[in-house]
Amino acid sequence: MKRIVLLGPPGAGKGTQAVRIAEKYEILHISTGDIFRANVKEGTPLGKKAKEYMDKGLLVPDELVCDLVEDRVSKDDCKNGYLLDGFPRTVFQASHFDEYLKKNGIALDSVVDIEVDEDILLPRMIGRRVCRNCGKPYHVTTMPPKQEGVCDVCGGEVYQRADDCEETVKNRFKVYQDQTSPLIEYYKESGLLAPIDGSKPMDEVFGNICALLGE
Ligand code: AP5
Ligand code: ZN
Repeated sequence: MKRIVLLGPPGAGKGTQAVRIAEKYEILHISTGDIFRANVKEGTPLGKKAKEYMDKGLLVPDELVCDLVEDRVSKDDCKNGYLLDGFPRTVFQASHFDEYLKKNGIALDSVVDIEVDEDILLPRMIGRRVCRNCGKPYHVTTMPPKQEGVCDVCGGEVYQRADDCEETVKNRFKVYQDQTSPLIEYYKESGLLAPIDGSKPMDEVFGNICALLGE
């Protein structure tokens, strides 16, 4: 049973590592970004609201996020634990979630903070492609799909996210600095923070995360 939060700037490799961690520890991967993108694709009221913010690289307002995540982790398929990728993203979200955990008599096990400098992140983000169907991330030069535009895993369409153009990425970095990076101090104080060097190759990053989380 593990409850883990993955923290890190845009493009740090949260999604990439989350898929592997969830598989190894048999816990559910919950990505708020993926949830919002699925809603945008389906054209739901939530998706329509979220899109206004996402396309500008801004955070979706806290009140649209907290209940959504708390409902999701209360479901049966989270009984074995879960990995939160992209949540919390503000001190408000973190303390709201802490209240939820406390009310339910449970706690987080670890907050893995994937650290990477912005000058490494920019080319990663601009070259990123994602499967529209299963969310698997690719990269045009470092990790292209075997057949251009087609997902290796599910055959879905591999596309570029609307928020991965240079201007929006730079805005997302700024939003991360202003609104999300204070969480590093927040979780340091609660003794949960586990920093990981995310500039290393993907397999090495994964190995270091596993060493930290244990068996
Ligand atoms: P979200 O989808 O969470 O985006 P993000 O945090 O900006 O993170 P990314 O998905 O861009 O990057 P990642 O860290 O997962 O990196 P990846 O593994 O893909 O959120 C999108 C938007 O939704 C937000 O802007 C906001 O509007 C909204 N939102 C979501 N959650 C919210 C919340 N809680 N509150 C409010 N709003 C919210 O890797 C990136 C690339 O690098 C890939 O191409 C990959 O192949 C490559 N790569 C990965 N690791 C390595 C490595 N070690 N070496 C070399 N290349 C690597
Ligand atoms: Zn796919």
